[in-house]
Parts: sequence; C-alpha cells; structure tokens
Amino acid sequence: MTTIPDISSTTLQPLLKTAFMGRTLISEMELDSTNIAAEELAKANAPEGLVVVADRQTAGRGRNGRSWLSPSGQNLYFSLLLRPSCQPARVPQLAIVAALSIAKALPLPGIAVKWPNDVWMNGRKLCGILSTMSCMATATEYAVVGIGINVNMRDFPEEIKGTSLAQEAGREFSRAEVLAAVLNTFEEDYVLWSHEQSLTPFMERWKAFSMLDGHTITAEHGHDILQGTACGITNEGLLKLKSPDGTTRLVAAGDTHIVI
Ligand code: BTN
Repeated sequence: MTTIPDISSTTLQPLLKTAFMGRTLISEMELDSTNIAAEELAKANAPEGLVVVADRQTAGRGRNGRSWLSPSGQNLYFSLLLRPSCQPARVPQLAIVAALSIAKALPLPGIAVKWPNDVWMNGRKLCGILSTMSCMATATEYAVVGIGINVNMRDFPEEIKGTSLAQEAGREFSRAEVLAAVLNTFEEDYVLWSHEQSLTPFMERWKAFSMLDGHTITAEHGHDILQGTACGITNEGLLKLKSPDGTTRLVAAGDTHIVI
C-alpha cells in the first residue's frame, strides 16, 4: 500500500477549508475502483467525508456498466463517503450537486454540466460521476459519490471524445489543488442540500451551467429513446423534455445527446 506522493494528507490538508470532507483520506497508488474501496470502508463504519483517491484504477467503473479509463499520474479518481439523513429516492440528487460543485470549483471558460451528472468543457467530456448507495427500507445508510476528472491527460482514444483541464487551458494543474477546490465547494453545497433536501437552491446554477437547455436532445435509457427540447430540471433532478406537441415529459435516468 503506497500513498500517492502528490495527493497525501500532507499535501491536501493545508489546502482544505472543510470541516469533514477529505479530513479522512485514503490515498493509494493502485485500486481496482475507488468506489469499491469506499463502499467496503462504509460497511466498516468509516466516517462521513472519507475520501478514497487512487493514482490509477485497474477496474474503474463508469455509468451503465461502462468502464472508466484510469491511467496513472495524470488524472483524479476519487470517491466520497456520505451519510445523508434522507430518503433513498433523494440520493441520486447528490450526483447533480457534485457536478454543479465541480463546475463552480473550476471556473474555467467553457465548463458546463450535462444531465444527468457529467461535466463537459468546450463540447467534450471532462468529468464523470458515478454514485451508489446502500439503504434500508426508507432510510439511507450511506452514499458513495465517485468522481473522475481528467486533469493533465493529453492523449484520448478517439471513441472517448474526452478532454482534460490541461488540454483546454494549455497548462498543467496540481491534482491536490483541484481535489481540494472540489472538496471545499462540495462540502458547502452538500450542507445546503442536506438542509433543503432538494435541488431548489441550485436551480440558478443549473441554468448558468447547463449545456443542454434549449437544445433538441435524445435521452436514451435501455431500449427507450426519447427526443425533445431540454427545458431544465425539476427540483428533484428529473430532466424536463418538451415534445413537438407541446407536452413536457419528465425523465428520471438515461444518457443524453444533443441532436445536431
Ligand atoms: C461516467 O460513466 O461518466 C461515470 C464515471 C465515474 C468514474 C469515477 S473515477 C472514481 C470513481 N471510481 C470508479 O470506479 N468510478 C468513479
């Protein structure tokens, strides 16, 4: 077990302004998936705010059964352990809050959120979020929010259509500084969300950063493909999709694409 030299407690703690987020840090050079490691620690009673970060992942998980490209030395792969006092049905909102925190924490031109919870920059994917949870009947036991941010990676396989902070800004970034900025913003947003138990306080930010609103899009979930104009989200995080006949449908899950 080896700590990542540039993302250790020594490098991260001085950059944190948080009360609990990132104050317990597990930093490893290699993990199968930081989400898997965080879930195991959650079951062993790890505290809220635990962050598990890996320099590389051998089985990085993406949404809908996809994998997440996780080479060493370049990007951020981390998972946050949360213990929200909310109904399980509200937990998926946390991934939307996280996307909005990242957009706010990285104030670079061209940054945008894409429903349900991607962060894009100048038309290419910069960051993906995968959240999982454990619940008992009406109570949430824990949630794990896993975040992959492409930081200094330059070579992307064509099929990924990804980008990185370095590629967009033309300079290298400190991974510890990017991680600390995200944790500082997310803690504030998480406390606000926990208090409100809805996305209402985040609606203005969603409008400011959403790259889909006003565009004709498809929302694909399993075999279902819906098409319409994206008109924002509800305060529960559902996508509002307006059909040509004027009716608005609410979409709970899926992958979205702008129709060109
Ligand atoms: C997506 O498909 O867009 C979600 C990608 C989420 C990737 C991150 S990297 C850190 C954490 N650990 C994982 O195995 N996945 C998430």
